[in-house]
Amino acid sequence: MDNKTRKFTRRDTLLLAGAGALASFVPAGFAIGAQAKVRIGMLLPYSGTYARLGNAITGAMELKFAELGGKLGGREIEIIKVDSEAKPPKAAELTTKLINQEKVDFLVGPVHSGVAMAMAKIAREEGTMTIDPNAGADQITGALCAPNIFRTSFSNWQPGHPMGKVLLEEGKKNVVLCYWNYGAGKQSAQGFKDGFVPHGGNIVKEIGVPFPEVQFQAVLAEIASIKPDAVYTFFAGGGAVKFVKDWHAAGLKDIELVGAGFLTEGVIKAQGEAAEGIRTTLHYADSLDNPANKAFRKAYAAKFGKEADVYAVQGYDAAELIRVGMDAVKGDTGAKAGMIKAMESATWDSPRGPFKLSAAHNPVQNIYLRQVKNGENVVVKIAQEALADPAKGCKMG
Ligand code: BEZ
Repeated sequence: MDNKTRKFTRRDTLLLAGAGALASFVPAGFAIGAQAKVRIGMLLPYSGTYARLGNAITGAMELKFAELGGKLGGREIEIIKVDSEAKPPKAAELTTKLINQEKVDFLVGPVHSGVAMAMAKIAREEGTMTIDPNAGADQITGALCAPNIFRTSFSNWQPGHPMGKVLLEEGKKNVVLCYWNYGAGKQSAQGFKDGFVPHGGNIVKEIGVPFPEVQFQAVLAEIASIKPDAVYTFFAGGGAVKFVKDWHAAGLKDIELVGAGFLTEGVIKAQGEAAEGIRTTLHYADSLDNPANKAFRKAYAAKFGKEADVYAVQGYDAAELIRVGMDAVKGDTGAKAGMIKAMESATWDSPRGPFKLSAAHNPVQNIYLRQVKNGENVVVKIAQEALADPAKGCKMG
């Protein structure tokens, strides 16, 4: 399996322009395509606050490809990695380069919802087979849905939606929302509100923190003065580490800190005892007791020397979805209709539980209530079974 990381400097741009021109002389067709390597372009964050998410997705995809003998539909695999830096303004240019210059067969990414919006608009127009292994932007499987765009993660609306019911059942009615103030944070908060407010919950205050800022002192002081029953949050990666540590240090013992599970996902070790006891809702938990999860966690830990997390699971499933498509067309990447048909109806035992897609190409999945116990996200119960995103505005053309 070939592997290269691209930063797309100006020099790269010139080199790629040459490579693109050469590639365009190669006649298209299955006979030639079958011998060529299948090219997978990864637009993921390899630097910045979401770097550990991008690395987990990439590592788990490489693990799956290795388990498949390094081939997809009989063809060897070439991975082209590009650092999105989780910066939306760079997304259109990087996506265009992967499609037009690197001539990728599959586009995989991103992590950040803002990057996803730019990427999906281009992928839709170009018809490039695209798998979103994390970014939750509701629109990707809503108004921007398309036959060639699939998601193996979640919509931002999904993970937090069942948390409202959990809190209301315990009489916790007054909640502050605190999130990174961009698409993912706002949509995660909306998912929570939709399951909370119509059933008697009261949002006392919404606090948006600019992404990727991690100065939380003023926010925590404000929360302490409001004294809500609970605070629902959306933070992930490096920001989640800092928020949980700052919360712990602030000693806000009478207020429950909850959130979409990203708050404690992939960062528990770094959070240490500050994470103990935190409850979140998510489509995965470390302790899920199914054979696929046990085998995956063992293989991931053996390869990388660290515990798997939800991002790794989403990457692993992205690779499996590509395998399904490539097997269905025996490696003929030009046979998109056959590939899409197979991928749409694919089901398998994922580490998260049964994997299946909605008509909008978003996972329909259990959302688990989890709690951190001894440095692990442990399942408390299924908070909502087989939850589908509303897929607002999706017209599959
Ligand atoms: C997002 O931007 O969609 C996102 C980033 C990190 C974790 C979850 C969602």
